[in-house]
Amino acid sequence: MAKASQATWGGRFTAGPAELMLQFSESVSFDRRLAPFDVAGSKAHSAMLAHVGLITAAERDAIHAGLDAIHAEIIAGKFAWDTRLEDVHMNLEHALTKRVPAAAKLHTARSRNDQIATDMRLWFKWACGVLGEKLLGAERALLALAQANQAVLIPGYTHLQRAQPVSLAHHLLAWLEMLERDRARFADVADHANWCPLGSGAIAGTTLPIDREFTARALGFTDAKGRPRVTANSMDAVADRDVHVEFAAAAALFGVHLSRIAEDLILWSSAEFGFATLSDAFSTGSSLMPQKKNPDACELLRGKAARLQGNLQTLLSLAKGLPLTYNRDLQEDKPPVFDSFDQSAICADVLAGVLGGLTFHAERCAAAASDPALLATDLADYLVEQGVPFREAHHAVGAVVRLAEKHTIRLDHLPLEEVQQVHPAFKADWVQVFDPRRGLAKRAGTGMPGPAQIARQLKRWRRQLG
Ligand code: ARG
Repeated sequence: MAKASQATWGGRFTAGPAELMLQFSESVSFDRRLAPFDVAGSKAHSAMLAHVGLITAAERDAIHAGLDAIHAEIIAGKFAWDTRLEDVHMNLEHALTKRVPAAAKLHTARSRNDQIATDMRLWFKWACGVLGEKLLGAERALLALAQANQAVLIPGYTHLQRAQPVSLAHHLLAWLEMLERDRARFADVADHANWCPLGSGAIAGTTLPIDREFTARALGFTDAKGRPRVTANSMDAVADRDVHVEFAAAAALFGVHLSRIAEDLILWSSAEFGFATLSDAFSTGSSLMPQKKNPDACELLRGKAARLQGNLQTLLSLAKGLPLTYNRDLQEDKPPVFDSFDQSAICADVLAGVLGGLTFHAERCAAAASDPALLATDLADYLVEQGVPFREAHHAVGAVVRLAEKHTIRLDHLPLEEVQQVHPAFKADWVQVFDPRRGLAKRAGTGMPGPAQIARQLKRWRRQLG
């Protein structure tokens, strides 16, 4: 029998829960990481209770001192967590009760339902801030890499077939766009989390004269102008898990981006591409084949994406079809959310490390980009500049490509007369098109891979990333 450990709700029970039930229903093994937020919530709540006269200032101070002492014990690793006390809330309240008589008043006008909703919102705001910083680190590593590789040309690919030459920096800056959207998405999630549910009680608020705005302000649930933000419906406030889903969705999409970046790097570091070499620090060897250097860090970044997607799916499935309002199912919302955070955080760090240790082989890159056929589109543009309609130009260049294939010579080695037989608009200067720098120089418009545009984008990124 475990009746003693059910002090917070055991009043109407004659028998305590089975040992198996205790084991089954505990969450403290994973929600203990909410302790700093639970402490902050309890301090704000008790400050509010004192503010409205439901407890005395002395009781508030005693509660605060007790919570601070408990928090210090937790940080020092000296707190004795007890799974029989179910969750982080009851562990803290139990510890406080042993120290401070006024602890018995702390749960006035509060339920674990609005308490956990508050803890999680505070946690999301913190977690999104941490991920934002880590993403910034990876983005800065990427920016440095792009700056160092503006002059390197690589083929851009569609369908994993060589398409058109681009500056390597342009490819790297494409990744940067992806990561910056991720950073913005986590910031949006933090903003969505920024509403205070405390005061919603179990489901229907309270009959006591609490001041929700006071609590919200004390916990930093405020808008840009410092006005408190409190949730508008007590039932929604305790049932809502949208932010959990949004957070996991942001992480899952970050994972998709990680996996695409990783896949490019895996290809580039293969002997077949030979564009780049990964640092030893983020590669591993084979236990059997002595020559192997494997891109395990990138493969794991790619693999973690699956896990992040799984966590999102878990949360969607968990919330689907649940009747309003709180149901204990919702305790299962935490492991996937925490896992998405932990994995996203380490992935962002690893990505920064991988990028920081990358070396590119400019000659291999240039060789891959040197096939004049990659400039066939520029050749069509050349005809357009001679007044040829694009469809006709496309067709003519196609015929020229076919001709080169027939003679098994490079496109730019075809004699002018033969080319002119295909279309009279080809002039003696037609071969100038095959200087890849010419085409890039002309690509100066916003979003294009020309050097002037890349320089402008790099400047913008330097400003944006600090
Ligand atoms: N540990 C619980 C959870 O994470 C806290 C809320 C419990 N509420 C309740 N009515 N049992 O969901």
